Amino acid sequence: MVCLGNICRSPLAEGILRHKLTENFSVDSAGTAGYHIGAAPDKRSIAIAKKHGIDISNLKARQFCTEDFYEFDRIYCMDENNFRNVLQLLPPDIPHHKVRLILHENPHEKTQEVPDPYYGDERDFEKVYQLLDNTCEIIAQQLLKH
Ligand code: 4NP
Repeated sequence: MVCLGNICRSPLAEGILRHKLTENFSVDSAGTAGYHIGAAPDKRSIAIAKKHGIDISNLKARQFCTEDFYEFDRIYCMDENNFRNVLQLLPPDIPHHKVRLILHENPHEKTQEVPDPYYGDERDFEKVYQLLDNTCEIIAQQLLKH
């Protein structure tokens, strides 16, 4: 799960997807930027996750790196900027379809991007939560079927 800062959207996505999968799946998140390396998720992301029964308070922000292309089978980006920035790092031996816009996995969702809630309020975090919860449900069903 990849966003810009790895403190608002992608830690939520990580917590939500992990919650829907069994322990033999490895779920992680990272940011394309390095501003918040080592920081816990934003308090508002921790609170919205907690409200829905998920604890993300122990996660620590890190920056997306080239090794992630080899470590993970699927890389889901929150918005078009993250998607472009990740693809700019794509090694020549990695198929580009490994990198996806997360909302493209959700056929019911017309929105392309998970909006950045950093300058928003609790309602924006709830909206992000609902987008990610609906979409991670679809992703989890796909993964658990295989
Ligand atoms: P995120 O949100 O990409 O969902 O973690 C942001 C967090 C921090 C900043 C921007 C977006 N920032 O500019 O510091």
